[in-house]
Amino acid sequence: MAHLRGLLSFCILLLLVVQPHQAYGSARGSFRRTRTDPVMLQESGICASSVIVHGYECQEIYVTTKDGYILNMQRIPEGRFASGNTIKKQPVLIQHGVLVDGMTWLLNPPEQNLPLILADNGFDVWIANARGTRFSRQHTSLDATQPEYWNWSWDELVTYDMPTFFDYIHNQTGQKVNYVGHSLGTLIALASFSEGLQVDKLKSAALLSPIAYLSYMNTALGLLAAKAFVGEITTIVFGLAEFNPKEQPVEGFLKSLCANPGVDCYDLLSSLTGINCCLNASTVDLFLKNEPQSTSTKNMIHLSQTVRDKVIAKFNYERPDHNLIHYGTLTPPAYNISNIPRDIPLFVSYGGNDALSDVKDVQDLLDSFKFHDVDKLSVQFIKNYAHADFIMGINAKDIVYNQVLSFFKRQQP
Ligand SMILES: *[C@@H]1O[C@H](CO)[C@@H](O)[C@H](O)[C@H]1NC(C)=O
Ligand SMILES: *[C@@H]1O[C@H](CO)[C@@H](O)[C@H](O)[C@H]1NC(C)=O
Ligand SMILES: *[C@@H]1O[C@H](CO)[C@@H](O)[C@H](O)[C@H]1NC(C)=O
Ligand SMILES: *[C@@H]1O[C@H](CO)[C@@H](O)[C@H](O)[C@H]1NC(C)=O
Repeated sequence: MAHLRGLLSFCILLLLVVQPHQAYGSARGSFRRTRTDPVMLQESGICASSVIVHGYECQEIYVTTKDGYILNMQRIPEGRFASGNTIKKQPVLIQHGVLVDGMTWLLNPPEQNLPLILADNGFDVWIANARGTRFSRQHTSLDATQPEYWNWSWDELVTYDMPTFFDYIHNQTGQKVNYVGHSLGTLIALASFSEGLQVDKLKSAALLSPIAYLSYMNTALGLLAAKAFVGEITTIVFGLAEFNPKEQPVEGFLKSLCANPGVDCYDLLSSLTGINCCLNASTVDLFLKNEPQSTSTKNMIHLSQTVRDKVIAKFNYERPDHNLIHYGTLTPPAYNISNIPRDIPLFVSYGGNDALSDVKDVQDLLDSFKFHDVDKLSVQFIKNYAHADFIMGINAKDIVYNQVLSFFKRQQP
């Protein structure tokens, strides 16, 4: 049950946490987005819809992972007003969180969103789109309608997706990469660095709304899970499948949860997820038209294990004999965050109202950096920020992105 509780908490939080203040009343019906023709989307893509329209150059790029997933990236090589500056630009890789894609970074007006601000400040910007999201659904041999396509969790994002992005950028630019992650984008970075992966190609990393430990995230939501329809959940959860919040059975399951007597998604949001202080209603409308995106059910299970087990470890097959087959140990190996090389420049920014990245969990994360070189770790705490403010806050430029910029600039030779 704890397992299911964790999973539930995670879905609900992720879906609801992005609702703006004004939209509380309509939160219930908003899971389904208006359907966009996939062919049209392919033709337009994120560059056309969200970057080129603002007068920036942008390239759609496809990279293939060692396990065959074909992933989409956007490259914004320069700002709106090309400076003619001959200094080699520093690359920045921007990685979104779970259940969204790279477009979430671009929903605010250009002067407010992180990728375009970075481009205008002389960085060579690369936006990643995780496997399973709408523009990263191709594979060399599998099809997204096949269960095997969805046989991965965030371990594979660490093992396959991250190296593919880093190698490609490093190869194209000949430079070390600055990294920005939000939410799950921070967890996969921390896990990678703790295993010594990418660190040779990494210049510095900015971690926004960091997720690592998730022990405190679900406490109150346990109540909700107790009322859930266990039978329905189990059919969704077990077996390999796409986890698509916009379609059955996941959508129906989430709606039924909100309709459950005694469970009010209105209260749930305000009391448990934390309130995003600073979202723009038009941006949120745009968000709801474009997100949420799919992930794998296995990934959601893995995240819920992180909630339940209070350790950051590889996917747990839930049976010692199966873990033994996969890992040679009865329990899955842990990622040891304290193993992250102490001289990697890190910037951590977290919010006081963030229910996903709970302040106490962030404290645990910061504790694991206690031996980090003091001058290589900067921490920012923003009292009234919650999870989505870091990507869509109307004042995120002044509060967060300017800090990210000066952090990256400090790393320049
Ligand atoms: C909110 O977003 C709209 C559409 O992008 C924009 O025109 C408006 O200026 C934004 N409001 C604020 C306060 O930034
Ligand atoms: C899923 O992947 C694991 C390895 O990660 C493999 O052992 C297992 O056979 C795969 N299952 C299916 C149904 O492809
Ligand atoms: C990029 O990859 C190509 C082909 O593998 C290789 O020839 C080239 O040296 C690489 N460039 C850098 C900067 O690593
Ligand atoms: C984690 O790594 C740190 C630093 O390398 C080490 O001191 C500690 O013993 C490790 N913890 C575990 C549980 O392996």
